[in-house]
Amino acid sequence: RSAPPATLVIFGASGDLTRRKLLPAVENLARHGRLPDQFALVGVARTPMSDDQFAESALGGRSLAEKRQLSGGIRYVAGGYDDPETYKRLAETLDELDAVRGTSGNRLFYLSTPAGAFEPVINGLAGAGLNQAREGSFSRLVIEKPYGRDLATARELDGIVHGAFEEHQVFRIDHYLGKDTVQNVLALRFANSIFQPIWDRSWVDHVQITVAETLGVGTRGGFYENAGAMRDIVQNHVLQVLALALMEPPASFEAEGLRNEKVKLLQAIRLPTDRDVSEAAVRGQYTRGGTREELMAGYREEVGVDPLSRTETYAAMRLNVDNWRWAGVPFYVRTGKRLPARLTEVALQFQRPPHLPIPTDQLTGLEADALILRIQPNEGISLRFGAKVPGHSFRVRTASMDFSYDQTFVEESPEAYERLLLDALIGDASLFIRSDEVQQCWRIVDPIIENWEKDNSPIPTYEAASWGPTDADRLIGRNGRKWRNAS
Ligand code: BG6
Repeated sequence: RSAPPATLVIFGASGDLTRRKLLPAVENLARHGRLPDQFALVGVARTPMSDDQFAESALGGRSLAEKRQLSGGIRYVAGGYDDPETYKRLAETLDELDAVRGTSGNRLFYLSTPAGAFEPVINGLAGAGLNQAREGSFSRLVIEKPYGRDLATARELDGIVHGAFEEHQVFRIDHYLGKDTVQNVLALRFANSIFQPIWDRSWVDHVQITVAETLGVGTRGGFYENAGAMRDIVQNHVLQVLALALMEPPASFEAEGLRNEKVKLLQAIRLPTDRDVSEAAVRGQYTRGGTREELMAGYREEVGVDPLSRTETYAAMRLNVDNWRWAGVPFYVRTGKRLPARLTEVALQFQRPPHLPIPTDQLTGLEADALILRIQPNEGISLRFGAKVPGHSFRVRTASMDFSYDQTFVEESPEAYERLLLDALIGDASLFIRSDEVQQCWRIVDPIIENWEKDNSPIPTYEAASWGPTDADRLIGRNGRKWRNAS
């Protein structure tokens, strides 16, 4: 797979995401031979910079010869996002690149700005006619998160987007979908037949989805204050992984079929009633903690954070899916910053056997069977089941059958952004979020966030490097269940 002739235009070109993720992704695509000679890159941002300076930041580690070859196709347009002049200059630059680089009028506009700039940029593009492609060419829009901050604002943003672009031109990005191990949820479920029969309420006791990070908010305090864990991670990454893990089999992985199944699953998620909304989720904020050697600041002490902040850095939630496959099965999801381990996984815990012909004292160390899909790190899958302990007595203990990406494949995993950028250039929207999906995801988290915003009681806390507030153990523990890896 390689990209067609095109110009990639990055708005927010001097920003953090561009530097950390987008430019390295472009560089990798070039290095792996996935970009044609007729490729060009344009950075747009307010910060003044010359073409050469931008080319230097985009091409950092490449050889001089490679730089010369690529830099002919690199431009920088400095200007305000709400200034029509910016778009006029951009349009001229794009026409010039079509002429000198042969980019064929194909444009991929990437919005990597703070969300406040989405509206002026979209309107600016439309004002210069850049939203419409010439006959036989494409004009596409990639939008970063946050896509709104609740259902109402997501709908407003959709109104702005659809005022200028048709839905088939829009690529809402969730970088989790670019991870091989997230796509492997689809491979495991739908390229095999042995898992499908046990993937339902007859066998599954409950499912846990964890996105745990060891990092704090770092330098992103200002952004995070207006987000919190529910908006930053649950609304997008967690619900996307959940949808892939629980949806019905699609007829193909083509964009519409796949996204239809995700939407159907999300629609089947039951919202908590007013009476049980406060029971359905738990939040927390990290306080100072860690070891004496590595003492970590509390969230309220971080740069850019209000010392009285009520923003959650941990969120856990219980969900139910009202359909034939999953009726009655609880799904527990959690995410947090400053937890003891970096770990993203989906764990299906199976029911206990209906009868055990073995005395319970011979079962110490036997956990319920589980299938664990490790998204990161140690990418792979484990199947945990009971095995006879060697010896004269009949004792059973949990054993594990492990598949590891590292040990099985020699192929390298592309970075999530590399994969998704290539998909957008090719025009494959399977791993991008459709408008109705975003709205469903907000529908699910909105009642919880609203309830938290109304609640004046002190926000529960957890020490940095611990597994979250104790309320989270109560959330899952009501039926004798426990979070995996809880210490
Ligand atoms: C981003 C969030 O979307 O995902 C960050 O805004 C978070 O807060 C990051 O740290 C996690 O991504 P990954 O790929 O490191 O798991």
